Amino acid sequence: MARCNGKVLCICLLPCVMVGHLLVYILVSICITMSYSPATLPIRFIAPGVSSNSGALAAHPRNPFWNLRIQKGALWNQLQHRLDRQHNPILRGNRSQQASTEGVRPQEGGPQGVSPACSPDQSWAPLLKDFSTLPEQMRDFILSMHCAEYPIVTDQPGVCDGKLRPEEAPMLLLAIKSETGNFENRQAIRQTWGRNGWMQGEAGGRGGLVRTVFLLGKQDPSMGLYADLEKLLEIEKSQHRDILQWDFRDTFYNLTLKDVLFLRWFSQRCPHARFVFKGDDDVFVRTRALLHFLHQQEEETEDEGQNQKKPVRDFLMGEVIANAVPNRQSFTKYYIPESFYKGAYPPYAGGGGVVYTGALALRLGEVSNRVHLFPIDDVYLGMCLHRLGVSPTHHPGFLTFDLPGTDKESPCSYHNIILVHKRSPKEMLRLWSMLKTPPPAC
Ligand SMILES: *[C@@H]1O[C@H](CO)[C@@H](O)[C@H](O)[C@H]1NC(C)=O
Ligand SMILES: *[C@@H]1O[C@H](CO)[C@@H](O)[C@H](O)[C@H]1NC(C)=O
Repeated sequence: MARCNGKVLCICLLPCVMVGHLLVYILVSICITMSYSPATLPIRFIAPGVSSNSGALAAHPRNPFWNLRIQKGALWNQLQHRLDRQHNPILRGNRSQQASTEGVRPQEGGPQGVSPACSPDQSWAPLLKDFSTLPEQMRDFILSMHCAEYPIVTDQPGVCDGKLRPEEAPMLLLAIKSETGNFENRQAIRQTWGRNGWMQGEAGGRGGLVRTVFLLGKQDPSMGLYADLEKLLEIEKSQHRDILQWDFRDTFYNLTLKDVLFLRWFSQRCPHARFVFKGDDDVFVRTRALLHFLHQQEEETEDEGQNQKKPVRDFLMGEVIANAVPNRQSFTKYYIPESFYKGAYPPYAGGGGVVYTGALALRLGEVSNRVHLFPIDDVYLGMCLHRLGVSPTHHPGFLTFDLPGTDKESPCSYHNIILVHKRSPKEMLRLWSMLKTPPPAC
């Protein structure tokens, strides 16, 4: 009888014990999730090979899905947290589309100049405790980071004539970050890899229509004395009609502004360009090889769609840097104080040169209204991509950190790359003529 009782008792208690265990398990998982903090990651790891952006593998999110905790004490994170919540489609439903224009940044700058929202009084500097101790360029940035609206001084409305007829639009728009004084770089680019017009593909490959624009701000007067080059620039503008200039100080921390303003210009003036290359004026690009490569991308999507021409899947390609963390050394060029930004950077492509689809450029232009300006332009683009759910794709042919020392002199090594940094105007001319004739044997 007692044995029988024991069995009954066991059978009755078993479910209770199991439910109990389950509850303990749930409690422990909740505790772990709440105390989650991203693991510390190695600095500046450069991804080898092509990253898994092929659609089969989705990027693994580093943060929990519901990240409602704010990084206390970091200005950018706090501002962005607010903005992200405001635009969260789950929390806000359909309102995000209208909300993108309210509150944060007014979208269009009137022709009369900068709107009242851009006045220095509106700046976020008072929110930062150690503001007065920060380096000057950081302080300048914080004082103006609420404003992404500057009038365009020189526009080139006709660069992409195919604005109305998509089939006449350029295959590739080269948008090159330059500054007033770099006349020689611009001229070398025009004579070599940035030549405007129809360009043959490499070795009989298909070519395409290439258009080139240079992105400029205004000469930075805070650098001390400088020769006034505006007159010279005026001559250049009227000669070549490929210069876009906006009315902001052309400084390193304002490069993000250049990105944002370019993307807006693109959606107005060149929305049908199939691909965009954006890079520095001291890189060398094998444009013919790039055209060939882009044609291949288009063909791949054509095959998938059974001979129907489908738009290329959105991508951004370059030298991908993953798991980078902010530089905390206050004397360096890339310094980001802890009071400004906390956490790792999203994966991004080195700003020396990246190529992306025109469709992605349009989406980036839209999402840039929902991402606060960040002092480092390539990281900023990574932040925008992150919000679009696109991960940058690594291509081993983009050498934004140059070739290994021994390969620099060998002509063969240049036949396997798409981009190399950094090259002087003279070297650009030499490389371009060298690449015209295929090497004997590589
Ligand atoms: C959400 O927006 C889309 C287009 O913007 C619209 O077609 C749809 O009806 C909206 N849904 C709701 C629930 O308002
Ligand atoms: C960026 O340009 C604006 C407008 O000219 C200027 O007020 C600001 O100080 C600049 N920012 C930096 C970091 O140089």
